[in-house]
Amino acid sequence: MMQLNSKYFQTKLLFWHATINNRQLPWKEETNVYFIWLSEIILQQTRAAQGLKYYKRFTTAYPTIHDLAKTPLEEVYKLWEGLGYYNRCRNLHATAQKIVIEFNGEFPKTYQTIIDLKGVGPYTASAIASFAYNLPHAVVDGNVFRVLSRFFGIKEAIDSTKGKKLFEQIANDCLAKNASANYNQAIMDFGATICKPDNPLCTNCVMRRKCFAYQNELVKSLPFKEKKVKQRSRWFVYYILCKKGKFAVQERKEKDIWQHLYQFPLLEFTSEKEWKKFVIKNATTLQATDFLTKNYRMLGVTKNVSQKLSHQTIHAVAVLAILPSTKIKEPLHFEWKTPSQLKKLPFPRIIHLLFNKEVLEVFARVV
Ligand code: ADE
Repeated sequence: MMQLNSKYFQTKLLFWHATINNRQLPWKEETNVYFIWLSEIILQQTRAAQGLKYYKRFTTAYPTIHDLAKTPLEEVYKLWEGLGYYNRCRNLHATAQKIVIEFNGEFPKTYQTIIDLKGVGPYTASAIASFAYNLPHAVVDGNVFRVLSRFFGIKEAIDSTKGKKLFEQIANDCLAKNASANYNQAIMDFGATICKPDNPLCTNCVMRRKCFAYQNELVKSLPFKEKKVKQRSRWFVYYILCKKGKFAVQERKEKDIWQHLYQFPLLEFTSEKEWKKFVIKNATTLQATDFLTKNYRMLGVTKNVSQKLSHQTIHAVAVLAILPSTKIKEPLHFEWKTPSQLKKLPFPRIIHLLFNKEVLEVFARVV
């Protein structure tokens, strides 16, 4: 029964891809394995619409893997700025160097050697192996879980070991083995444009007659997940300190979000209550901290901003202050940068929300 349905699923999917799907993306039909790899790393945990800009940036700045490998990491981070999950960028650069130095610039050609690359998991390895070499490996990710669980009516949790195994098996049963590139692109596009998480386009779907979820009104409840992602809030106060026209920044070195990006000196609070108390107090009088000893000139506190990440929401404000040009105790390792030097450094998005034109104008007025 399952086998019959997988054939139906495959046929309908390929028919949809050949006749109806008109999603145009620059990496489609790409034959250069370096560009394919680049697109797949960019598209991990990223929607195609957002990835598009970065794909163009990277292929323009680094038309070959040699160009990417020889660029200083900090410059590559700057190009990646805003895309999130910054480990991807670090792995991308390390892998480019490995391929150039150890493999003489030749991209690996088998699934096993591709998956051995840093930053490449089963999904990305299948995508690269199929798109570049037509090797028969089915992609399995959140989109594929959703499409398969709805069509076949699979209630096994997608975040359980048993569920993952089952979906992998079904995905490989459905794969068009001699047209894996075409098939994988079809299921990715189908999940993104038709069988969407919210408001899927079921009434026009080519598979609706045999779609278990559609026929049984289960579209909204599938796929099933065991665990809920826990979101935690963090409470930040940044110090935007200006001395002789330069601003203090630091690299984030700890193993935490935004590792290797830059920031203004930061105080983190453990609760919203403490954070709010501190902000209210400092909006009028600024107490001495590690960053501010004495003789500073307080300019104010910015409004609250927040940034939602996959497992955390960051709430932040920034304290603006001018420091005296005389030497003061600097307990932390500050790097002092002019606004044009700051433009070259990679920062998390929240810093751009806080350090905007208005803030620069506040400083410009007083210095
Ligand atoms: N997501 C990951 N890879 C993709 C691709 N090749 N096309 C569309 N979306 C994708």
